[in-house]
Amino acid sequence: MSTHIEAKNGEIAATVLLPGDPMRARWIAENFLDHATCYNNVRGMLGYTGTYKGKQVSVQGTGMGIPSALIYCHELINDYGVKNLIRLGTAGSYQKDIKIRDIVIALAASTTSGINKQHFQNAQYAPTANVDLFLKACLYAKNNNIPVKAGNVLSTDEFYEEDPDSYKKWANYGVLCVEMETAGIYSIAAKYHVKALAILTISDSLVTGERTTADEREMTFKKMVEIALGTI
Ligand code: HPA
Repeated sequence: MSTHIEAKNGEIAATVLLPGDPMRARWIAENFLDHATCYNNVRGMLGYTGTYKGKQVSVQGTGMGIPSALIYCHELINDYGVKNLIRLGTAGSYQKDIKIRDIVIALAASTTSGINKQHFQNAQYAPTANVDLFLKACLYAKNNNIPVKAGNVLSTDEFYEEDPDSYKKWANYGVLCVEMETAGIYSIAAKYHVKALAILTISDSLVTGERTTADEREMTFKKMVEIALGTI
């Protein structure tokens, strides 16, 4: 086992879906995977491995925010040999034409987090999606008539921002939405030469103040899981 995951060697697949919420990990395992078994319950951060169309897939909760997500990604990559990380999360819209329930595929992730400042000091690293996973996800969505938007997203360290208007600056530069993990996941994937992609559903809008209901979130979550499983 690793520090935060109690799976034995070989119990985690090369491809792992990464919802923030561990209860979503259980929901994905129960609703989309065959023969799913739970391999992790340390800190309640549930992880399951099962099969999809005969192929082994795992799903692991990451918790909220870059520091928590990096713990799980680090151990998945370095202790369990994981090669493909696909985040499935929610985000807040920064643009008028990105509506609640829309799906956004993160081409790149800007960030207010300090993670890469420590690594690159006076320079700025640009965390991006793996191009192979990105193209496959866009193509799957197109072929299956699932509308998606793609572009730059923002990964913040604070859900409750000091300045409620701070999003406007990012919106002016074309950033589509805000969440709290992708820049970290793209950076650690690049560092260890594995592939990563984030697929996000818009749960709320900073532009209009609208929010999705729990039922709506479940519906759009289904579409995201479908794109992720279609991608792999
Ligand atoms: N901010 C940060 N993360 C989020 C948000 C938000 O408004 N909505 C969903 N995830």
